[in-house]
Amino acid sequence: MHATKSLPVTGPAGPLAPLRRWPARLDLLQSATGLALGLFMWVHMFFVASILLGKDAMWTVARMFEGYFVFGTAQYWLVSLLVATVALLFVVHAALALRKFPANYRQYRTYRDHLKQMRHEDTTLWYWQVVTGFALFFLASVHLYIMMTRPDTIGPYGSADRVWSDTMWPLYLVLLFAVEFHGGVGLYRVALKWGWFEKGDPLATRRKLRRFKWALTAFFLVLGLATLAAYMKIGIEHAPYYGQPYVPAGVATEVSP
Ligand code: HEM
Repeated sequence: MHATKSLPVTGPAGPLAPLRRWPARLDLLQSATGLALGLFMWVHMFFVASILLGKDAMWTVARMFEGYFVFGTAQYWLVSLLVATVALLFVVHAALALRKFPANYRQYRTYRDHLKQMRHEDTTLWYWQVVTGFALFFLASVHLYIMMTRPDTIGPYGSADRVWSDTMWPLYLVLLFAVEFHGGVGLYRVALKWGWFEKGDPLATRRKLRRFKWALTAFFLVLGLATLAAYMKIGIEHAPYYGQPYVPAGVATEVSP
């Protein structure tokens, strides 16, 4: 008896490698987690910017996330759960992104030489996306950890004290630029990669998308800087009363950081 030999599958250019679907699946997961984080970031910036409308507005947003208006008392674990979910997305996204980082100095040099020769804007954008992504590993982790473990301190005075008296503003300043640049380029690249908004002329679509991306980044940077300045101003004024919670007129003291 002789065993049946399986013949190698061949194509016009020789033997074909077995079809591997995992790299495509992981790419899809990277895009999906990035998209979710990018959309979360937009919403986050608007909620945090509620301070520009006044202390009462920010106090109301913070209490809303704690379920205060549903349960009648602050349920801080709700905020911790939300942060844990975002942190999980962040970790999965970062782990998948590691596949794209240059693995050694030689790969890095090859890429840098290629970048210099090409002088192509999208290639340069990709490089800066890797650099800002790397920075986010550290910067965002600090912020997420504090938000997860101290949700009870989120509020007009609690947040302003953290920004100013706890000296978080330098971290937030760098984090703001890193995340807005990274997110803007990320969403632009996802739109190009999966062919969204593609109509007829791909080059014209690319130009329009790029312009839209820069406009969005500029908008969120201006909003973020104004927001940060507002927290710093309140933080400076509130420094002598560090730790004292904000109490809107006619509300019990115990739920108002
Ligand atoms: C569910 C998760 C998150 C929550 C609950 C949250 C909450 C907050 C709050 C309350 C502030 C105001 C300052 C403070 O209290 O310290 C703030 C500021 C900020 N957060 Fe988050 N955050 C989250 C996730 C993130 C992520 C993932 C990033 C970026 C990767 C980020 C970037 C920033 C930046 C840059 C600021 C400064 C605000 C500004 O410059 O306008 N946050 N966040």
